[in-house]
Amino acid sequence: MMVDDEMRKKLVQAALEARQWAYAPYSNYPVGAALLTASGKIYDGVNVENAAYPTGMCAERVAVFKAVSEGERQLAAVAVVTANGGMPCGACRQVLSEFGKDTLVLIANDKGELVLETSVEKLLPSAFGPTDLNLEA
Ligand code: THU
Repeated sequence: MMVDDEMRKKLVQAALEARQWAYAPYSNYPVGAALLTASGKIYDGVNVENAAYPTGMCAERVAVFKAVSEGERQLAAVAVVTANGGMPCGACRQVLSEFGKDTLVLIANDKGELVLETSVEKLLPSAFGPTDLNLEA
């Protein structure tokens, strides 16, 4: 799916706006994410931390799970906004790769400035995927 300039800006803006709802009292590192699905819908997500630290969840995975739980299985693009243009963690890369290798990844800072444009495939080459579970292959 072609993601034009206007849509890229819209996604970064959606991630920036969502970021205000991040619950990150422990790291003080709020993250906002916004996903564009193949059907054209946008789902956002934020990191949600917990006093029991490992039970918290990243913004990207919240957005993916929201989308998939509403029937979406193909992701066209994802924008991630942090204070400094931080990168998606390994677990989020793996979860994103399940629903699209070509998914465009837009990394932006809290001024809404794009700092990197890449893809899930580039962020996680040779990802473990469904075909790895085919033991006959
Ligand atoms: N975090 C995300 O939300 N996404 C990432 O890909 C990297 C890390 C969150 C997890 C935690 O709430 C905070 O950022 C600091 O690690």
